[in-house]
Amino acid sequence: MYICICKKITESQLKDCYTKNSCDYDASQRKLGFSLKCGKCKPSVENLLKKSHFKKLF
Ligand code: FES
Repeated sequence: MYICICKKITESQLKDCYTKNSCDYDASQRKLGFSLKCGKCKPSVENLLKKSHFKKLF
């Protein structure tokens, strides 16, 4: 499922960035490039990162 339509970034890519590269929000944004075009994905990415089931992966 895409978390950023503009950059075609998937939830899986974001999870991989966090788990494999220990990225924080800013580092993953720089690496993947989400929310750098229209910015509409920023709230949903932030919400995703706050979800407990997502954090359990770290
Ligand atoms: S949907 Fe992510 S920058 Fe537009």
